[in-house]
Amino acid sequence: MRSLAAVLFAASAALAAAANDPRSQSQIPGRNVIPGAYIVELASTPGKRAIHDEFPGELDKRAAGRFVTRKKYKSVVFNGLAVELKAPEDVVDLASIPNVVSVRPVAIYPAANIDTGVDYTHPSLGGGFGPGFKVAGGYDLVGDAYIPGLVDPVPDDDPMDQCQGHGTHVAGIVGAAPGNEMNITGVAPDAALYAYRVIGCVGGVGEDVLIDALLRAHADGMDVITMSIGGASAWPDDPVSVVASRVAEQGTVVTMSGGNDGDYGPFFFGAPANGKDVIAVASVNNLARMYQTMTTNVEHAPIPYKISDPLEDLDGWPVDVPETPFPVYALTADPMYNATACEPLGDDVPDLTGYAVVFRSAHWPEVLTPDMCEVEIQIRNIAKKGAEFFIIYDPEWEPYVGNIPNKEVLLRNIDDGIWLVNQFNKGTNLTVTFKQHGSGVDVPNPNGGLTSLFSSFGPTQDLLFKPALGAPGSNITSTFIVKKGSWVVASGTSMATPYMAGSAALLLQAKGKGVSKNTRSIFQSTAVGLPESHEPKARPHTLAQQGAGLINVFNALNVKTEVSPAELLLNNTAHWKGVHRITIRNTGKYKQKYTLSHQPAGTAVSMPTTHGIALYPVPVIDAAVAVHFSKTEVTLAPGASTAVTVNISPPKNVDPKTLPLVSGWINVHGSFGDRVQVSYLGVAGSMYAAETISSKNQVSWYHYNLPAIVPGDIGEDSTPIRQIGARNYARGWDSLPSLVFLLAQNSRRVVIDLIDPATKVDATIPSVSRKRSPELPLEEAGGFFNDVPIKMRIYDLHDIMHISGGPLGPAYQIYLPPMVFGYKIFLRALRQFGDPALEKDYDIYISEQIGIVESL
Ligand SMILES: *[C@@H]1O[C@H](CO)[C@@H](O)[C@H](O)[C@H]1NC(C)=O
Ligand SMILES: *[C@@H]1O[C@H](CO)[C@@H](O)[C@H](O)[C@H]1NC(C)=O
Ligand SMILES: *[C@@H]1O[C@H](CO)[C@@H](O)[C@H](O)[C@H]1NC(C)=O
Ligand SMILES: *[C@@H]1O[C@H](CO)[C@@H](O)[C@H](O)[C@H]1NC(C)=O
Ligand SMILES: *[C@@H]1O[C@H](CO)[C@@H](O)[C@H](O)[C@H]1NC(C)=O
Repeated sequence: MRSLAAVLFAASAALAAAANDPRSQSQIPGRNVIPGAYIVELASTPGKRAIHDEFPGELDKRAAGRFVTRKKYKSVVFNGLAVELKAPEDVVDLASIPNVVSVRPVAIYPAANIDTGVDYTHPSLGGGFGPGFKVAGGYDLVGDAYIPGLVDPVPDDDPMDQCQGHGTHVAGIVGAAPGNEMNITGVAPDAALYAYRVIGCVGGVGEDVLIDALLRAHADGMDVITMSIGGASAWPDDPVSVVASRVAEQGTVVTMSGGNDGDYGPFFFGAPANGKDVIAVASVNNLARMYQTMTTNVEHAPIPYKISDPLEDLDGWPVDVPETPFPVYALTADPMYNATACEPLGDDVPDLTGYAVVFRSAHWPEVLTPDMCEVEIQIRNIAKKGAEFFIIYDPEWEPYVGNIPNKEVLLRNIDDGIWLVNQFNKGTNLTVTFKQHGSGVDVPNPNGGLTSLFSSFGPTQDLLFKPALGAPGSNITSTFIVKKGSWVVASGTSMATPYMAGSAALLLQAKGKGVSKNTRSIFQSTAVGLPESHEPKARPHTLAQQGAGLINVFNALNVKTEVSPAELLLNNTAHWKGVHRITIRNTGKYKQKYTLSHQPAGTAVSMPTTHGIALYPVPVIDAAVAVHFSKTEVTLAPGASTAVTVNISPPKNVDPKTLPLVSGWINVHGSFGDRVQVSYLGVAGSMYAAETISSKNQVSWYHYNLPAIVPGDIGEDSTPIRQIGARNYARGWDSLPSLVFLLAQNSRRVVIDLIDPATKVDATIPSVSRKRSPELPLEEAGGFFNDVPIKMRIYDLHDIMHISGGPLGPAYQIYLPPMVFGYKIFLRALRQFGDPALEKDYDIYISEQIGIVESL
């Protein structure tokens, strides 16, 4: 098994590298990786430390001069190396070296304390670095210039953050000191912070560096390791996820961001948060957001605004203007007029130099046509009159002002804009003033306290309970690089994760390090489930996005009841695990009587059309599991514990083909007011039986079901005609056809081969002229994967997400090679939980016959 992954990746890497090859334009399914770089895990044999040193020698024998050792990992948690091969085919040899446990390519993670470093000169972060300071230690593993795959790391001892600021923001959420102009305090202000910088001034980070950072933080004896970095990955076995989980298994609390891919619906979670024992964090909307305010010379409450700047870095700052009053000018009598200054202004408008011009933005989102007036046109026309400062409002949406060299502020409330225009029109000599300090106010967020829309949905593809639980992560004000303004408002699971880390530090401080390994359970069992909305009868929100609920540190520190496990993994109906034992322990001083009950959440319909996982908004229905308790009441003396058996069965009133995601809680109420909970999650359908290659979906301008073979020589705006019947194509790079397909679910393995047109294979997915073979029971189809004779392998890829994210949105597009012989495309995608060696465990599509000729 171990060599499989390596060999497969090599095949695709070699093909992708060929320049001039039309396939280099393909939407190559898979993660962004560092070409030729691999993480090799070596067996840890006690007393045989030499293994580590033997490996390069062995590799030297097979690939002398064609590899570089990037890193060595010598830890009880992970023993291995990161190597870079100059000849990708050498990976086959790599995998055959003795004691190699696994070989995996090195993924690149996008830029997100293991983070971008920390600007420790910030007064609220202690103002210095080293023993005695808040930022007491750490390391820079990469240096400023590092770009994964392009510029190698240049490590040093100083994890200073001067370019990105992300790590400085995260550090403030964990532990900013109180007593600052923003009136904010980190979650654990007494915690000592160590910063491990893994990201340079641009770009992301290679997985090899992330593993190094995790092992280093672990070796340095950290109690809590937090990482707000991630990339979508459906299975929990990426090397960095495995290492993170092992570090957690050793008793270090590891908190990681679940990802900001809420748009992509269920089964789109992030690595390394998907690691089994990691605490994966979801984001919950902050109750309020800090806005800056302007004051006026006429009696009126301070007016909240924010800077309009495409560089989000400035979000939350006061606009950088002198603190002297600006006279206000309005151009229309009607404050709701939405086409102000869409045409050049006439001579009736005076010189506006020195004025703040207030107007409603023109840009109307639903009717985007090229000739439409946009807020940028308004600004340019007004600027021709000398104005340099603009106050913009809109009742419908938040106007987007591009990067134009003026100062613009956006009003939080439309009523304030109307008031300003009306005051001006009354003939008042209206002025506005922008204080540069101490003018921030908190404006309530109507969606405060709900799961953030952007927060990624779990579970993992093999149905681990992810995310674990949520913490505040949107509109979070925290520290920023001093030279860039010291403070910033930012949103993301990146912000929720340090909140969780700080909370873990508080828990360890209160209860001792002995509870480390139980941190996730303690927080999950004392969390508070959130509703779908603030409507009066809203259902509890699916646990696939919120996890166990919102963290409640007070509950975690004060309940006198323990419950375990805190998560019940029901799996899917093909492997349903409904019977679980729940142990309840009374840790208080008084006898407590406990009552058990069931609280279901809304059931998310993961595959509503049965032809692909739902994207946002994911449909939700009332369809609860049935729960049978062995006892619904137990009475426990102080220190006593007992087990209760629960038997959970899938709901009957659902269509299993839609893969309903069932979730909810078993509540345990104690007679002294304690409430603890056990969260459950599963799929009330068989993921194996549901499609993996989508057979009935279309994308954008393709008005037919995919998969399809689409000729290459089509313009941007014409509808591509799919191939019907056998067809020849000319050999030119612009005329070769491509295979376009959609994955209905993430797939462990996707293989694209060329086969002889005469080869007999039974397809599970219909093509234009062939029906699916419904009469063929899946179990009886085919034999072994390798039994089908192929002419050429184009791609053999592992762990493919169901959204390609390329120009065709979710669809994958693979350009076909200029082979002269006639062939058919043989596309196989491994079904969920299928065996890669068995033909029957794949969804199969066979194309029409394709021929490539020198000229037509
Ligand atoms: C700072 O926050 C605390 C707690 O929310 C509040 O009581 C206090 O009024 C705030 N102070 C300022 C200056 O905003
Ligand atoms: C003004 O709003 C109307 C709808 O009320 C819309 O049809 C029109 O396009 C908008 N005009 C501009 C310039 O945005
Ligand atoms: C507004 O300012 C102008 C010019 O400075 C002045 O003539 C006028 O009296 C002022 N009006 C009011 C209502 O203060
Ligand atoms: C931030 O808060 C504002 C106002 O309170 C709200 O409109 C906005 O949706 C929030 N943003 C996020 C990402 O939660
Ligand atoms: C669900 O069942 C499959 C098949 O037995 C197994 O591979 C997978 O690990 C299970 N998932 C969990 C979370 O236990």
